[in-house]
Amino acid sequence: MGKTLTEKILLSHLKEGTLETGKPIGILIDQTLTQDATGTMAYLQFEAMGLKRVQNELAVSYVDHNTIQVGFENADDHRYLQTVAAAKGVIFSRPGNGICHQVHLERFGKPGKTLLGSDSHTPTGGGIGMIAIGAGGLDVAVAMAGGPFHLISPKVIEIRLTGKLRPWVAAKDVILAVLERYGVKGNVNCIFEYTGDGVATLEVPERSTICNMGAECGVTTSIFPSDEKTRSFLKAQGREEDWTALSADEGAVYDGLFEIDLSTLQPKMACPHSPGNIENVSKLAGKRVEQVLIGSCTNSSYADMKKVADILDGHTVAEHVSLGIAPGSREVFLMLSQDGSLGKFIQSGARILESACGFCIGNHQSPGTDGVSLRTSNRNFEGRSGTKSGQVYLVSPETAALAAITGVFTDPLSDHGISYPQVVHPTQFLIDDSMFVFPPEDGSNIEIFRGPNIGDPPKNTALKDNLEGYVTIKVGDKITTDHIMPAGSRLKYRSNIPVYSKYVFEPVDEHFSQRCTENQDRGKDNFIVAGASYGQGSSREHAAICPMYLGVKAVIAVSIERIHQNNLCNFGIIPLTFVNEEDYAKFDSNDELLLENVKEQIKGGEVVLKNRTKSTEIVLRCDITDEQRSMLISGGLLNILKERN
Ligand code: F3S
Repeated sequence: MGKTLTEKILLSHLKEGTLETGKPIGILIDQTLTQDATGTMAYLQFEAMGLKRVQNELAVSYVDHNTIQVGFENADDHRYLQTVAAAKGVIFSRPGNGICHQVHLERFGKPGKTLLGSDSHTPTGGGIGMIAIGAGGLDVAVAMAGGPFHLISPKVIEIRLTGKLRPWVAAKDVILAVLERYGVKGNVNCIFEYTGDGVATLEVPERSTICNMGAECGVTTSIFPSDEKTRSFLKAQGREEDWTALSADEGAVYDGLFEIDLSTLQPKMACPHSPGNIENVSKLAGKRVEQVLIGSCTNSSYADMKKVADILDGHTVAEHVSLGIAPGSREVFLMLSQDGSLGKFIQSGARILESACGFCIGNHQSPGTDGVSLRTSNRNFEGRSGTKSGQVYLVSPETAALAAITGVFTDPLSDHGISYPQVVHPTQFLIDDSMFVFPPEDGSNIEIFRGPNIGDPPKNTALKDNLEGYVTIKVGDKITTDHIMPAGSRLKYRSNIPVYSKYVFEPVDEHFSQRCTENQDRGKDNFIVAGASYGQGSSREHAAICPMYLGVKAVIAVSIERIHQNNLCNFGIIPLTFVNEEDYAKFDSNDELLLENVKEQIKGGEVVLKNRTKSTEIVLRCDITDEQRSMLISGGLLNILKERN
């Protein structure tokens, strides 16, 4: 029987288990990437493992999330990251060099390799034919130590592309169509594998845009074959020797099929406040727009930016619109500065932003009250922009640029009178690696800098026999890691867990951490009760570390997202889901709970929880692997690694 491309790469990296759908496996990781928001904890955890150097083929530390320096914290973190990288054999990508996924694709991505990144949009690398997976920082630290990454053998869904995109319809519209079909939940432990004649019509950066937002569907990753287009991209990056042809076998068997005819696709948008809330742009034609932001790891390649420059050429941004443009990498920025595009941006009235995550992570460019913002990024959760009432729509660069000129939602396929530019995919990129700091052969003399913002990873104790405490918070569906651990102005505390923990659930209930601490002081445990898709959104492991620090012992939810479930187990918090979803309604905040014989109970896959306040017993599922069960019993992965050493 023919194999899918996913199976081929997973098999060639298989270290533990057998590749049978639904079964746990461990795979070897060739490359790792971290970014600064998650990277400090990852390297602190790597240091705690006591290894002198990273053991995998390639490790890169990017600084792209918190590049704005207000106060000393970010500057201290960057210095820690740079020195620990030099000491441990990690390439350091300096602030200004660009967004991790864009830069990694340009300079390091290799077909057939595995990449684990402490950022949920690591699947961007699937555009070049890698198995690229987002995970928590501790998982990445383990991979840097040469350990396997554990996952569930995925179902492989074929997404068959036919035809060719029309002018004004973009790769972004392809992934928005996939989101329209699959939504943002229910796709855990799946991989989207792209096939069909339409694949050859898409360039690597377009494929990466599609893989990038597969993360919003909740799949493990997405992947394209490696073909002549991949070879051309690598050749233009001066890395043709990194190319290998890779594709699924004839007759490969998939677990599902979705067909998209690229030639009939409509321009689409994700409406507030979910990337899965998809409509055609034409539906809102004429609606006023106040802000347009172009960039992020989803849409900031050279071709995307050049298209925008040429659409804006000769036009002025509408007088009530603020247009911001953030090229994805220094390479792209430099090329735009040399080919005249930068001049076109400035001429049009655009504001030029740094090559960094910036607006996407809510660091700046918050819209005004109720402000309508069109963005080319991948997330529009309520409040992520920094303005709770902000109305963020996710669109293609083409749709964004048009709206910046017209000042209203404009269907790109309508008769708007603006001509579609020539799309340019360079045969030679402007390669300049001078903003990478490559580590010395021997880093043993490097002094690792630790400012007052750098704390030790918090410790956890082994699991007790009985958990006894309160529902410290009850939340609804689609609670994101942004709700649990706010980014924006709070992100600078990411390396200082006692301080960052004060802000757990701040956007939902600012007294959460206080209640947790009071319960801890009384010797009681904390429980979180949640609806569906708890922990969606990002790999931010602080959404598990900080609750752990506050004495949260279990999350009881209708469903929990994959990366977050892994992070909970990594930090000793038990993930539990309702066997009967209706039981969610049987809990209230402050209910007193008792989970007895918990170590024994979680072995069976189901546990019985007593709600003392309601005098009820609720059956919950504990759907975890044997490895995760051991982690929970030991109080987290770091404890296990210490025990094994
Ligand atoms: Fe950065 Fe936003 Fe991507 S925070 S890594 S640009 S999702």
